Amino acid sequence: MKRVDPPWVSDHFCWCGTGGAHLHDLLPLPYTQEAVRIVSERARMLQDFLEVPFALENTSSYLTYTASSMTEWQFVSEIAERADIGLLFDVNNVYVAAYNHGFDAYEFVRNVPHERIVQIHLAGHTNLGNYIIDTHDRPVIDPVWDLYGETIEHTGPVSTLIEWDDDIPPLEVVLQEAERARSVRDAAVARRASGRTVRHTSAPAVQKRDPAVPISPAHKAWTQGGPRETAAAEAT
Ligand SMILES: [Fe+2]
Repeated sequence: MKRVDPPWVSDHFCWCGTGGAHLHDLLPLPYTQEAVRIVSERARMLQDFLEVPFALENTSSYLTYTASSMTEWQFVSEIAERADIGLLFDVNNVYVAAYNHGFDAYEFVRNVPHERIVQIHLAGHTNLGNYIIDTHDRPVIDPVWDLYGETIEHTGPVSTLIEWDDDIPPLEVVLQEAERARSVRDAAVARRASGRTVRHTSAPAVQKRDPAVPISPAHKAWTQGGPRETAAAEAT
């Protein structure tokens, strides 16, 4: 951080280790007041220590906890306000979590503290029907572009990063994605300036997973490497 001198530093709303073991994935937190208190205290401590603004990013997730007593957007918002930190807002992660857990992605986007959003992430994912795995190995889908447009209407022109970590295409394809991000952002900024914003009344693009449909045994048997590798195997 001293060498790069960044305007802010970020990490994720997640946990990764317990009992001396460290897990190589971003595991979701329970959305409880106890977790709000713990994460807020640590984020504030870290920000004070680093002496640069600190931000936390919402993650993609594949499970929830029965102990949770609030929504994910309430959880991230309360921590951001309490710790006085920024948000790194991953629009694709909102879509993936909304799909996997059956909540309204637009409600999430509308209710977080927009002035705290320091950067936006977009990515492609793998939809396996019952659930989505956040593979970052393909183009951003149209419903995520729509969600991004509405996010920008709330935030203004926040810098945007497209995450593409696997099965990386030729540079022109990546540049086209970046160009699309610019055009969606510019259109949303223009709508914001004119006051003619688009408001989805529900979550038309985000389907709820049918809990009556069982998850196939093949999906349960994760191999070493975790969900992304499983998605790659199932998609072929
Ligand atoms: Fe991200």
